[in-house]
Amino acid sequence: MSHLEALETEILAAIEASETESALEDVRVGSLGKKGSISEQMKTLGKMSPEERQTMGPALNGLKARVTDAIAARKDVLVEAALEARLASEKVDITLPLRTTPAELGSIHPVSQVVDELTAIFADMGFSIAEGPDIETDDLNFTALNFPEGHPARDMHDTFFFNEKEDGERLLLRTHTSPAQVRTMKSQEPPIRVICPGRTYRCDSDQTHTPMFHQVEGLVIDKGAHIGHLKGTLEEFLKAFFEVDNVTLRFRPSFFPFTEPSMEVDVQCDRSGSEVKIGEGNDWLEILGCGMVHPNVLTNCGLDPDVYQGFAWGIGIDRIAMLKYGMPDLRAFFDADVRWLQHYGFRPLDLPTLFGGLSA
Ligand code: DAH
Repeated sequence: MSHLEALETEILAAIEASETESALEDVRVGSLGKKGSISEQMKTLGKMSPEERQTMGPALNGLKARVTDAIAARKDVLVEAALEARLASEKVDITLPLRTTPAELGSIHPVSQVVDELTAIFADMGFSIAEGPDIETDDLNFTALNFPEGHPARDMHDTFFFNEKEDGERLLLRTHTSPAQVRTMKSQEPPIRVICPGRTYRCDSDQTHTPMFHQVEGLVIDKGAHIGHLKGTLEEFLKAFFEVDNVTLRFRPSFFPFTEPSMEVDVQCDRSGSEVKIGEGNDWLEILGCGMVHPNVLTNCGLDPDVYQGFAWGIGIDRIAMLKYGMPDLRAFFDADVRWLQHYGFRPLDLPTLFGGLSA
């Protein structure tokens, strides 16, 4: 092998071995640069005999041209590879979820979630929402609901009374959502189908009682509304709410001044595990109070009890939220502890619907 062939083999190997553009540039300078190995060979041409030059001239020019081409080709490869690497490292995966927004950082309190859930269920059954104020009159909270003055039933409620006004009237924080029934009957013509969710107050505090809590009242008034409708409505509601195929209810006779007959309802459940399971097992859990609206209440609200009748019920919202979502202490509901909310809260943009799922 002539020394030119050996030089060519060496330079071409160095070109192929260059992994970066700067390494390739070093090879170029080392061969074609002013003091490069090929340039040094070119300088010897001047001292050669004409015959020698005739063969060495084209040989050196050919070598120079092949090395120049090889460097250009290797450079193309390296530029392309560098671009590929950059594109790969800067790739944006457009299928990734959006960045967390402040709206997603917040969460819906279980009480609001449960109100939304039961609103969706009762709206589907044709009920509308009626609301009343938290500060009520004694008349709407008690008297119109058939609690006679001094009646012992009034002591069932540990009521927060306001100071007496000059005219002797004493307002109070409503002890139940039942005054919203009275407001509705006084302002709407039957047939009536409403639920009244809201805040209620009693002077009480332990693991399952807080001075402020939530109830939802239900009221149906029509000419032919009867206890069978009450039972069917409650069954449908409880099945939908607890997202189970079956619930078994037990109606026990009870007493409320505003209903006759009055009943307390227990739901069949399983308490053998760490949480209560609704719809199975052989235990019972009291879940709500209900009854047929007392004729005196209808009369107090301007409705003729010989024409109209109806049924009503009251449920503790916090209580069914605890049951459904397994929260052990009611007081934590109102501590405003962000960690609790993040754990038990619900995604703000997932509104409960019957078709999309209540709690999914
Ligand atoms: N108001 C009752 C309470 O707070 C709950 C209740 C029971 C409401 C029976 C009703 C009903 O409408 O019919 O304990």
